[in-house]
Amino acid sequence: MSDQQRITVRVPAKINISLAIGPLRADGFHELTTVFQAVDLYDVVTAERAEGISLALQGPEATGLVADDTNLAWRAAALLAEAADRSRIGVALRVSKFIPVAAGLAGGSADAAAALLACDLLWGLGTPRAELDALAARLGSDVTFALHGHTALGTGRGEHLSPISTAAEFHWVLAVAGRGLSTPSVYRELDRQREASGGPADGAAPDRVVAALQAGDCTALADAMGNDLQSAALALAPELARTLEAGVSAGALAGMVAGSGPTCVFLARDRATAQSIARDIQASGTCRFAVAVLGNVAGARPATLPADQ
Ligand code: C5P
Repeated sequence: MSDQQRITVRVPAKINISLAIGPLRADGFHELTTVFQAVDLYDVVTAERAEGISLALQGPEATGLVADDTNLAWRAAALLAEAADRSRIGVALRVSKFIPVAAGLAGGSADAAAALLACDLLWGLGTPRAELDALAARLGSDVTFALHGHTALGTGRGEHLSPISTAAEFHWVLAVAGRGLSTPSVYRELDRQREASGGPADGAAPDRVVAALQAGDCTALADAMGNDLQSAALALAPELARTLEAGVSAGALAGMVAGSGPTCVFLARDRATAQSIARDIQASGTCRFAVAVLGNVAGARPATLPADQ
């Protein structure tokens, strides 16, 4: 056991620059090929020594979330304790939410990844990375990526990762909607659309996105990015069409729905343009808020923060 009393971990949101969805599998998940990128919008998870497991949620995006044992951060702590055969060790978890919930940005998965890492450090378990990855995959399709961060190709249901190296800086704008969308309902709508149209339409092109990233070519990336879930998200939230239009008229190189939505994500030429696009989208009134973010940041990492954070 370590003698640490308290560990703080910072964990990023993710976007899918390409999300190509294959068939529905027998286990209820879809086979997919995706290009993940971590962006610098972070949740912060603090783990403190305690008896049993408890959870407190705070921060601007915590509204409506329930702090009980169904929360993915709590489940992550319980799963790690069970895997380590230390069911009697405890933790008081505190999650500061800045990543919007049910937004297609994997905020819940991020909290699970951060809780895994924080508890591993707090409890001094030294769980090998491959085992943490396996536990992460049991918690959710995007949890493994939240541990790793940066940019990666994801296959299977998203949990098998190969890093993609890119030297360029990528500037994005996130336009966050005034409501959430449930991921399973967006996948169900995609299946319904595909059934109605007689099969999958070829959309997202992960190979072209990987090539554009490796070349650091923003224009090629704008041309290649795409999301097979977009038409389903638009069917469930038609108002997003206006958000997408607002971003492109504000000067984005391209825009699309982020993951299962309803956040929309826009690629910008540089940081200053991203900031001005964010201001213009916000002013258009087509989203709850818009923010410029930087891509390709690290995954869940211990952070040194002031004691009151
Ligand atoms: O893995 P996660 O809990 O994030 O997935 C949430 C839901 O999204 C799943 O229950 C499933 O309906 C859908 N999903 C899917 N195929 C994937 C990932 C998620 O159908 N590859």
